[in-house]
Order: sequence, then structure tokens, then C-alpha cells
Amino acid sequence: MKKMGNRISEDKVEKIRNSVDIVDVISEYVQLKKQGRNLIGLCPFHGEKTPSFSVSPEKQLYHCFGCGAGGNVFSFVMATHGYEFLESVKHLARRVNIDLPELEQNEKDKTSTEYNLMVSGSELAAKLYHHLLMNTEQGKNAFQYLKERGFTEEMISTFSLGFAPNTWDTLAHFFEKRKVPLNIMEQIGLLAKRDFDGKYFDRFRDRVMFPIWNKDGKIIGFGGRIIGNEQPKYLNSPESKIFNKSKILYGFHIARPEMRKKNEAVLFEGYVDVITAWQAGVRNGVATLGTAITDEQAKLIRRNAETVIICYDSDRAGLKATYRAIEILEAHNCHIKVASLPEGYDPDDYIQKYGLEKFRNEVIGANQTTMAFKMNFLRKGKNLQNEAERMKYIEDVLSEITSLSKAIERDHYLRQLSQEFSLSLDALKQELYRLYKIKKRNNNSHNDHHLPKMKGKFVTEKKLLPAFHNAERMLLAYMMKDINIACTVQEKIGGNFNIDEYHAIVAHLYAYYGEGNEPNSSQFIQRLNDEKLSRIATEIAMMTISEQLSEQELNDYIKQITNYPKVIEIEKKERLRKEAESREDYKMAANIAMEIIQMKKELKH
Ligand code: UTP
Ligand code: MN
Repeated sequence: MKKMGNRISEDKVEKIRNSVDIVDVISEYVQLKKQGRNLIGLCPFHGEKTPSFSVSPEKQLYHCFGCGAGGNVFSFVMATHGYEFLESVKHLARRVNIDLPELEQNEKDKTSTEYNLMVSGSELAAKLYHHLLMNTEQGKNAFQYLKERGFTEEMISTFSLGFAPNTWDTLAHFFEKRKVPLNIMEQIGLLAKRDFDGKYFDRFRDRVMFPIWNKDGKIIGFGGRIIGNEQPKYLNSPESKIFNKSKILYGFHIARPEMRKKNEAVLFEGYVDVITAWQAGVRNGVATLGTAITDEQAKLIRRNAETVIICYDSDRAGLKATYRAIEILEAHNCHIKVASLPEGYDPDDYIQKYGLEKFRNEVIGANQTTMAFKMNFLRKGKNLQNEAERMKYIEDVLSEITSLSKAIERDHYLRQLSQEFSLSLDALKQELYRLYKIKKRNNNSHNDHHLPKMKGKFVTEKKLLPAFHNAERMLLAYMMKDINIACTVQEKIGGNFNIDEYHAIVAHLYAYYGEGNEPNSSQFIQRLNDEKLSRIATEIAMMTISEQLSEQELNDYIKQITNYPKVIEIEKKERLRKEAESREDYKMAANIAMEIIQMKKELKH
């Protein structure tokens, strides 16, 4: 059984999907024109001038040939609204007036559950802390501290900052009076329990309180900053049922509208950076919560914006973290730029010293490409006058160049290197080629023949695909459309597709038919429950194929697929044979040659 947000039944989901026309939903975002069986328009997910976004009314799918986005109507709503799957189901259910009593029940249950008490307790605490900061004698010191650091009242109120006084029972009493269960407040780390008498006391004391929100803007935790220089600088809420650091981003719900509007997010390291940048007019800023960025956080950003400007501290740790963040965000198809601060500054320091305008223009505005960032980073701490260090630097940069996907980019940086160090372009190109080969070898032969990749995107250009790859795509397209073809293929080769992603899709497809489902690519894609796989399956389902598949054609495809591993094996033997020859081990070479002939024979029929 597939987990389908695990609260709405699959039947219901299907009913909703069948009641909505994908064309209606997409038309609200994209002007669509008829072209053959499909409708086409400008892709809403990446900037383009000629349409490569197409929608199939018949298959109820969309796909962009430019950026690879694709899926069914739920995927579309998830992508445009930044929703999770379940939210997109709710959204579309409302649109077609289908009730979801199962969810309402669930929501009712929730009000009485711990979860809700935890959230409402956090909200209450934030109100108390804010009140103490703004209106009381106790909060004066903290307020003064914030003032001195340049916090305006607007910043304080937008980010609901507060103050936890230097007492042991202010919050505990407050909760007690309001009949908030103290043990639950202990679970979220607002209170702690004294060992000797079991009494609850305030965990945050004498700290400026930064509430932390979930995606919907509900307070679920706090970062409490010490006013002086003691340690730890921040005391944070512990992980709990409501608070999971790796899944949320500080300031997300405040930044979300601007992130979507600009299709761009700015990623900071600290709470304070987000807030001061916000005051500087950078209103699409978020921060991780003191840890390296996670896949979940990258996904959350990518659902709302394509470009990410990384604006971390300029110290060694910050640069390293930038390097790491580039990797993770790139794996999630983000377009990345790096804002660079002068050494020794964090965004907040910079703004305090140089002002808002300069920050906007010269830090956020003048961002570098990731390659320029990497070049600067690699330079740090090297003395380029020293020949050995210079050569090391050039090697490092060349190695980064090998991972650039665009020839123009590679050329650009090669020229740059050649000019800076007065090296011949040819020599650099030769060296680049050598590094390519090493890289390829290290990536092991397994990955070599894998999908052509561009910036982590799954891009397929038919003409360039090797025959077996094309055969796997064609077969999959037919199999999704025709259950009999799927059965035949299953009998003949089972799930033995060579490309990992296709292998996975085929396995899902057999299971899907096995459960008695009819061919329906939109429904099937739903069930994949994996963004990458559904994108790939969508793309294949959207391919134009002829009505009939002749037996001859079917067998050809199958042969391509089953031959492929053998072809690889033969290539390997060829290499072994050559090695044997160069060792002058002619007997061995002859043996291998025999094997090769035999294998080639087997290939033919
Ligand atoms: P920073 O030291 O850059 O903090 O740590 P900051 O937000 O800029 O605060 P100020 O300007 O010194 O007041 C970056 C982030 O790392 C986490 C917090 O999330 C902080 O925002 N952190 C840092 C902790 O969780 N605990 C600490 O003791 C320090
Ligand atoms: Mn700081």
C-alpha cells in the first residue's frame, strides 16, 4: 500500500483528480495555445521566450522540455503554490467542491491533542515574552540592547522578538494560571523540571527571545540570545513533536511572498542576519537554524524560488559552509549565486557599518557565480607567486571547470586562467582533458553511460541518446499506455532496464498493473510518490508514439536493452585483451579474443 499523505484515501485522491481538468488549472497561470493534441505556452517555472511548456488534455499531464518540470495537476499546484502533496489535494478538493470529512475529523482530533497544545503554548509564551520586552521594567535592558544593535520597533514587532526575564517561574506561573499542561511545555523545552521536588521552572532566562515559525507561520520554537558575551550565545528549543530544525527555515513564512514574487531567495546563517537584511529591504531572506542546509530545506526553497543567493559569513567556516550549500542546492536544481562580504564581516555587521543601501547593492546585488566564488575560495591562503602553490591552484580550478555543464562557461574560465597566468590555452585544454578522463574513471564505468545531466537536471535530447537508452524510453511509453505490452515486456525481460530511474519506474508500473489498475499515466505518476521519478515518467508519457507497436519493433527494443550489458562486457574484455598483449602474454590475449568472438556471436541472434 502506498502512503498517500496517509490520511486521504487513494480513491478520494483519484476522484478529485478526475474532477479537475488540468487545462483549467494551468490556464490560470499560463496562456495556452492549441498545438496538435497538446496545448503549449511559456513555462511558468523558468524564464523563456519561446514556449516549451506543453499540456496534454488527454493524458492530464504537463511537461516542460526546457527545464524538465512536469507532472499531473497535483504536481502543478504543489509547484506553483509551494504546497506539500496533501495541501494540493485540499486545494483542488475545494475547487471542485469535494468534501474531505476525513481531514476535518483529523483536524478536530488535533485541537485536543498534544500537538495543538504545544503550538498554542508556544504562541502564548511568545506573546508574554514580547510584552515583557516592550512594556516592562524587566525588559528595559534587553530593549536597550536591541536598540544599540540597530533593531527598530518595526523589526522587533515583525519578528515578534521578546524577552525572557531573569526569574525561575515567570513563564511557569503564567502557564499554570492559564491551565496549560506544564508537562507538555516541558516536552517543547519551554519549561524544565527540578529533580528534587518535581517542580517546573523556566528554561529560558535573561535572554532575548527569537520565535521560530513553521511553514504556516505558527510559532514552534525559540532561539534565546544571551545579552552579554556568555556561552552558549543562543539557547534553542530542543527537537520535539512540533520543532524539527532540519525541516524549517528561519523567517520562511515572512519571506515566502517575496521569494515567490522574485523567484529568488537569500540564504543567511543567522537569525539576526535575516532580520537586519529584512530592514535593508531584502525581504526574501531565510536562515538555517545553526546547522548545514539539509535536503528538506533545499526542497522547501526550491518549491518557492529558483534562484538562491547564499549570503553566509565571510570567515573560513562561512566559506566552507557556502561550498557545502552550493552542492546541496545544486542537487535540487537551484540556480545559485554567492553574495560576497568583505573578510571578517557577517551580513549584520556589514549593514551596521556600511548601511542598508550599500548592502543591497554591493552585497546582495553584486553576487558572483558559483564558479567565481570557488575560484576565490581556492585562492584563499595560497601564495600564487610560489610556483608550486600556483600550479596547485590552477589544477584545482581546472578540476572545478570539468564539472561545468556549458561549453561557453568552460571556455570563459579557461581563457580567464590563461590570461591571468600567461598560459597557452591549448596547454590548459590538454590538462582539462586529462582531468576529464581521470574524473570519468573515478566515477566508475557504472555512471558513465548514465543519463546526460545538466546542472543536476534530467535533460534528454533524443538525438544524443544511445540506442539502448532510447529503446528503454520507447518501451516505457508503450507500457504506460498499453497493459498488454507491459505484460509482454515483463515476461521477456522483467525489470531489467539499464537506466536506474527507468528500472524503478518499470517496477512501479508492474506493481500498479498488478493491483488491477488500468493504464492511466496521470494516476500512475501520482503513485510514484517521488518527484524525480514522476518528472521522468511524465516526460516519457508525454512522448508522441504511434498507435501500434509492431512485434518487430518491440523485439528490437528488447534486444537493445538486453544487449547493452553484454556490449559493456565485451568492451571490458577488449581492454583486458589489449593489456595482455602489452604484457606480451599472447596466450591470455588469444583466450580473451576467443571469448570476445563467442560473446559477439551471442549478441547477433
Ligand atoms: P551567529 O553567531 O552568526 O549568530 O550564528 P547571529 O544570528 O548572527 O547572532 P548575533 O548577531 O551574534 O547576535 C548563526 C546561527 O547559528 C545558530 C543560530 O541559529 C544563529 O542564528 N547558533 C549560533 C546557535 O544555535 N547557538 C549558538 O550558540 C550560536
Ligand atoms: Mn551576527
